[in-house]
Amino acid sequence: MNPYADLISKSASFLKEQKIVHNPKAAVILGSGLGDFTDYIEDAKSIDYGDIPGFPTVSVVGHKGSLFSGKVQGVETIAFAGRFHFYEGYPLTKTIVPVLLAKELGCELLVVSNAAGSVNYRFRVGDLMLIDDIMHLGRKLSVSNKQETFRYTNEEMVDRVERIAADSEIAVRKGCYLYMTGPTYETKAEIRAFRLIGVDTVGMSTAPELLEAKRLGMETIGISLVTNMATGVSKTTLDHSEIKEAAEMRKEDFARLVAAIVHQECG
Ligand code: HPA
Repeated sequence: MNPYADLISKSASFLKEQKIVHNPKAAVILGSGLGDFTDYIEDAKSIDYGDIPGFPTVSVVGHKGSLFSGKVQGVETIAFAGRFHFYEGYPLTKTIVPVLLAKELGCELLVVSNAAGSVNYRFRVGDLMLIDDIMHLGRKLSVSNKQETFRYTNEEMVDRVERIAADSEIAVRKGCYLYMTGPTYETKAEIRAFRLIGVDTVGMSTAPELLEAKRLGMETIGISLVTNMATGVSKTTLDHSEIKEAAEMRKEDFARLVAAIVHQECG
């Protein structure tokens, strides 16, 4: 049992009582630099995490730590701007709190986005990649105490989203996302090895959320925004400002894509 489970039901009741959320069907977790998606939510209401009883607060550059609620293409949707990274010292149980809240509120679909480094030489900064597989190098990410096994697959969803992207004339890649705990970036040797085993993008989030959402029976799709080429792929050093630049390039496409996914899947 996740220690946050009771707190989450408190958060959900509060949000419903205060009429901040209205039976949302879809939830979106926004990666670094992708917070502007919230501009595309109609009649948006927002509340800081700190003002939601039972909900934890966040602290990272580029994250607001707010929950947004409103309609996206006519579909009641919630969006989390700000998340809980394991590398910041939060326990895994906390990194998945947004997923628990989305499930508690009745969401059927979870879109999880992230800023990621590209291990794949063919990708470019600004590329959007649909996550069609995950690697987490054997780390136990499921927070269930039960001895349950389950498999993360979402091939059919990825196929559908590929078609949605094509219909919306938005170029997307498809590939495997590797979850690293961070906070250090990878070494050149690691990235070389990761390429050999089939990794396309690498980042420090998303896998725990996707796995938990799948375990809870939600439909999921993960989307990486390539904000930098991974260590050794490009010669420059990595820093947080690159995230903003890459997000500027694709934030509109990202928002259009997510809106189209929500509309097609839940509308
Ligand atoms: N490595 C790990 N996490 C990241 C990267 C990276 O290159 N870029 C953005 N998040």
